[in-house]
Amino acid sequence: MSIRWPFFKKKKKKTTELTEDIPKHVAIIMDGNGRWAKRRGLPRIAGHKEGMDVVRDIVIAATESGVEILTLYAFSTENWRRPKAEVDFLMKLPKEFMHVYLPEMIENHVKIDTIGEFKGLPDHTRDAINHAKEKTKDNKGLILNFALNYGSRNEIVKAVKEISNHVNTGTLKIENIDEELFSSYLYTKNIGEPDLLIRTSGEVRLSNFLLWQLAYTELWFTNELWPDFNEELFEKAMIDYQARKRRFGGI
Ligand code: FPP
Repeated sequence: MSIRWPFFKKKKKKTTELTEDIPKHVAIIMDGNGRWAKRRGLPRIAGHKEGMDVVRDIVIAATESGVEILTLYAFSTENWRRPKAEVDFLMKLPKEFMHVYLPEMIENHVKIDTIGEFKGLPDHTRDAINHAKEKTKDNKGLILNFALNYGSRNEIVKAVKEISNHVNTGTLKIENIDEELFSSYLYTKNIGEPDLLIRTSGEVRLSNFLLWQLAYTELWFTNELWPDFNEELFEKAMIDYQARKRRFGGI
């Protein structure tokens, strides 16, 4: 992974409570779009659209706070079970997001990336993302990492298959398999593990998100629905994170 250098990073937001110990990698399960829309008598897709705009706000907040990597759970391998019209809408959101916000992302030195089964996405979704990846590939600011068509169990099984294949062909010895090597077969090989996981909407589960990578991550839950999430709540999550003692199994 290249060294990230904060020359041009905007000054960290000044609050009395936030210390310099900013989580380097924050992951978010953006949940509650459907309920947000339902409460307003709107179709579910209206919640997703609103959620897309919140993504922009949190990217900017993360950049200003000095977060280096933001991994957002945008579409899971299980989300294909939703009605076709909703899936189609969700698959158009990356293009919409890039159309509206790519210039601002570039202005803020954001580098766009993805994790998940990229080949399983529709062509138009892949094209929009590839365009954004290409335009931002040399940026040295925040890595905005969309988990799209992502499932953690699927990722782990894929890694096991690749490792087995390398053992079978003699390029890898069983005795060389350890946690570090296993991690290098995951989508997150270049970005490592989140320091902080946020989940909105009051659900308290991981929903097949980064199961291996979250082993020592601090978990933070809020009842707010994703479209109501904002910079203040994001900062609150980081303040709570800073109040916790991470011992990684030690004492
Ligand atoms: C879960 O809420 C949310 C999703 C499955 C989609 C999340 C996507 C966004 C927030 C927009 C992403 C933006 C880009 C640029 C890709 P839900 O629909 O399950 O809500 P519910 O639990 O209330 O039904």
